[in-house]
Amino acid sequence: MKLFIDTANVDEIRTAMSWGVLDGVTTNPSLIAKEKRDYKETVKEICAIVPGPVSAEVLSTDYDGMLEEAREWSKVAKNVVVKIPLLPDGIKVVKQLTLEDIKTNVTLVFSVNQAVLAAKAGATYVSPFVGRIDDIGGNGMLLVEEILTTFMNYDLDTEVIVASVRNGRHIVDSLMMGAHIATIPFKILQGMFKHPLTDIGIERFLADYKAAMDG
Ligand code: E4P
Repeated sequence: MKLFIDTANVDEIRTAMSWGVLDGVTTNPSLIAKEKRDYKETVKEICAIVPGPVSAEVLSTDYDGMLEEAREWSKVAKNVVVKIPLLPDGIKVVKQLTLEDIKTNVTLVFSVNQAVLAAKAGATYVSPFVGRIDDIGGNGMLLVEEILTTFMNYDLDTEVIVASVRNGRHIVDSLMMGAHIATIPFKILQGMFKHPLTDIGIERFLADYKAAMDG
């Protein structure tokens, strides 16, 4: 499974990149807004740090606006993936961008039916938002499982990005289901390293060694 980081913060991205396990980045307008920086400059910088796919989202919601923005994003860097919201016009745009060989990530996916429409239009990725489904009492990972099964049943090439990840369990479930990608906030990515027994183990090894050498 590929690990993406879900942030627009370049310090977090640089740190995650230094670990040598980062495959890509997803941003969205809310994450960009948190950085209080120019949108295009920020994405350009991220694309230079991470060689893998970097998702940048369109702000328009009409066909012409989304298509124009998507074409603009595709010129910013070779590794930009254009994030398009799941709307009828959005799916039409994805179809056109597929013909133009521009990579797309269909965002705000909350059902299998939506995911199928995106895949049929040729989306490179679909992003089901598991945390937001859990937030309203649903089962986000069940949706991921259903999308993966559907794509397998019909040999659809679209990759599934598990998005809106809220905890380590979402990552484990994604791995068990064979999801292609999980996009993970920095704190949760950092948390993947942590286990109390690792810390206790290191302390004990060093203490044992020191006691033997000193004694
Ligand atoms: C990523 O592609 C999504 O935009 C992001 O994971 C949404 O996360 P949130 O539900 O925590 O805002």
